[in-house]
Amino acid sequence: MHIYLADPGMQLVDLSLIGLLRIAPPLEKAEAMFLIAARFQPLIMFASASGRDSAVARHPYVNNSCNRFQNCSPSVKDNDSGGIMLKVGLLGAGRIGKVHAATIAAHPKSELVAVSDVVAENAAELAAEYGIADRGSDEIIADPQVDAVLIATSTDTHSDLIEAATAAGKAVLCEKPVDLSLERARACQAAVNKAGKPVMIGFNRRFDPSFAALKAALEAGEIGKAELLSITSFDPAPPPVAYVKVSGGLFRDMMIHDFDMANFIMGETPVSISATGSAIVDPEIGAAGDVDTAVVTMRYADGRLAVIRNSRRAAYGYDQRVELLGSEGLLEAQNMLENTVVKSTAKGVTGAKPTWFFLERYMPAYEAEWAAFVEAADTGAFPVTLDDGVAALAMAEAATRSAKSGGQPVALADIW
Ligand SMILES: NC(=O)c1ccc[n+]([C@@H]2O[C@H](COP(=O)([O-])OP(=O)(O)OC[C@H]3O[C@@H](n4cnc5c(N)ncnc54)[C@H](O)[C@@H]3O)[C@@H](O)[C@H]2O)c1
Repeated sequence: MHIYLADPGMQLVDLSLIGLLRIAPPLEKAEAMFLIAARFQPLIMFASASGRDSAVARHPYVNNSCNRFQNCSPSVKDNDSGGIMLKVGLLGAGRIGKVHAATIAAHPKSELVAVSDVVAENAAELAAEYGIADRGSDEIIADPQVDAVLIATSTDTHSDLIEAATAAGKAVLCEKPVDLSLERARACQAAVNKAGKPVMIGFNRRFDPSFAALKAALEAGEIGKAELLSITSFDPAPPPVAYVKVSGGLFRDMMIHDFDMANFIMGETPVSISATGSAIVDPEIGAAGDVDTAVVTMRYADGRLAVIRNSRRAAYGYDQRVELLGSEGLLEAQNMLENTVVKSTAKGVTGAKPTWFFLERYMPAYEAEWAAFVEAADTGAFPVTLDDGVAALAMAEAATRSAKSGGQPVALADIW
């Protein structure tokens, strides 16, 4: 099955391949817009079926004044309503950079004005697609016409680029993780605090409508006090070993999202973390010094517990679930499925698989994340901060140490 997302240039992007964006021939505008509607229909139905109290209506971070759910198309970008148009430079034109280019260009209050990449062809290709300038990262950061910078470069460049962009007075959204090194991330945090220019970190899963609805239900007291959190995060297939070698390892690269999700839901960081991991999916991942399967248990100051399970392989697709047991009930955010058809026959009851990977599952979250950034860009009151990014990285560091020690609990206070 191919799922297409129409970009503002009305080319079709095939999202059905892991990590690959395949550009199909341009379609007529009407046909492409129809495909956008078809792509998002399940979510829109979900919102309307639940009425005003739905996940979308009360999503804490979606700018409800003008978002995708209210049919604000790129055609209103000249902003008749008189709002401010944020001019954005994108640093990094790789996998996630392409996703962000689409969300920036589609938002009615932001304009993608330039893109950079150290691999010249990557930048040139994306620049041509959007009809924008292809420039160096330093040049974009130094340009007074650029209001905001989105950092989607390789992880080892994040801290340097955050520091340069905040020093130049830009509003910054930087992809996770803040850095490969906790020490470097903390130095970056100190520099940013000194510059007094807040930064948003791209923990997009906080903006997933299901996870946000779970959090909202908890905050509304619907299951009493949270007591036991379980997060499941399985990728459909492992990345190439070349990626694993520069990723910082599963805990910093992959589970970092789940550490942040735990902080988001539980409202605080744990006091101790125990981790164990194995390389049972791909022995080459083990040879590269990493794990591909891991379980983490976390303990909070008042005795509450959380469990995170990660695997780089799930034969049935991208498995992303959260379960929260509270004193008065249970909340579950389940997988997004390819469709909602359930077949019941004499042989049994079957249904569709989860959507394949992050580009499919989290597109609404990337869009809501960008909307939240645009909303807060002038005040700097971002819903996800550099401090959140450093906290998640400290937890990844604790888990890495614990796994290396055979699963001994590591106190987060020893890491900070
Ligand atoms: N939030 C998410 O869901 C999500 C998903 C994927 C990746 N990421 C994060 O985004 C970042 C990029 O990941 P990716 O998968 O897109 O990797 P990628 O390798 O596909 O893209 C990164 C790009 O950055 C370029 N680059 C490196 N240094 C640069 C510099 N100084 N200036 C300009 N360009 C530079 C590279 O040439 C490459 O094209 C990583 O930190 C990763 O952890 C986040």
